[in-house]
Amino acid sequence: MKLAPSILAADFANLGTQVMEASKAGADRIHIDVMDGHFVPNLSMGAPIVASLRPITHLPLETHLMISYPDLYIHEFADAGADSFLVHWEGSFNLHRTVHKIKSLGKRAGVAINPATPAGVLEEILRDIDTVLVMTVDPGFGHQQFVNSTLGKIDRVRRMIDRVNPECELEVDGGIDAKTAPLCIDAGADVLVAGSAVFGTKDGVNAAMARLHDAAYAVRQRV
Ligand code: DX5
Ligand code: ZN
Repeated sequence: MKLAPSILAADFANLGTQVMEASKAGADRIHIDVMDGHFVPNLSMGAPIVASLRPITHLPLETHLMISYPDLYIHEFADAGADSFLVHWEGSFNLHRTVHKIKSLGKRAGVAINPATPAGVLEEILRDIDTVLVMTVDPGFGHQQFVNSTLGKIDRVRRMIDRVNPECELEVDGGIDAKTAPLCIDAGADVLVAGSAVFGTKDGVNAAMARLHDAAYAVRQRV
């Protein structure tokens, strides 16, 4: 199981420090939420944030593009130092082209699906991608409630991946904390994105990461 802290919930005045704390606490990658106020009803950050973080961490920088025309921005994020891209099935008119554009730049490509989008839409693209991101909230905001009905879909995506492309990662994003993480792992997730459960707690990043690791470890002990 891998942990991908989402900096959407970080204190932006201390972003570098918080990313370094997450890295020391065992983060596997840093998840960067990019929102355009069009595909989702919120604005967040762009490529300059990726460029600022690039020199301060060796962890992979994963850009989650919640934007309407991802093709227009992939080059800019790649040049800034992004290692991987998650693009939305719902926001890509030519998903195959977008995925191959990402791969032609030597970057990892993932496809994200919203809670109301069925697993079946992945059927034709699954062989071409490195990651499936199952959104466990509707994208656009941090600190939302985990959508329980996505658990069945995580399980269905797990089985599709095992059948079609076992190398592909199954990542989940939204409302992940020490309670919901075990449910997702049980359903077959192998990468957990967590924003507020890492950067939004009173006892700090280190303690928060330890809680998530413990929750995941407890699942492994049961298996
Ligand atoms: C939601 C974003 C998430 C967000 C998760 O649109 O894609 O990555 O940061 O935040 P939490 O973990 O607080 O639900
Ligand atoms: Zn995200």
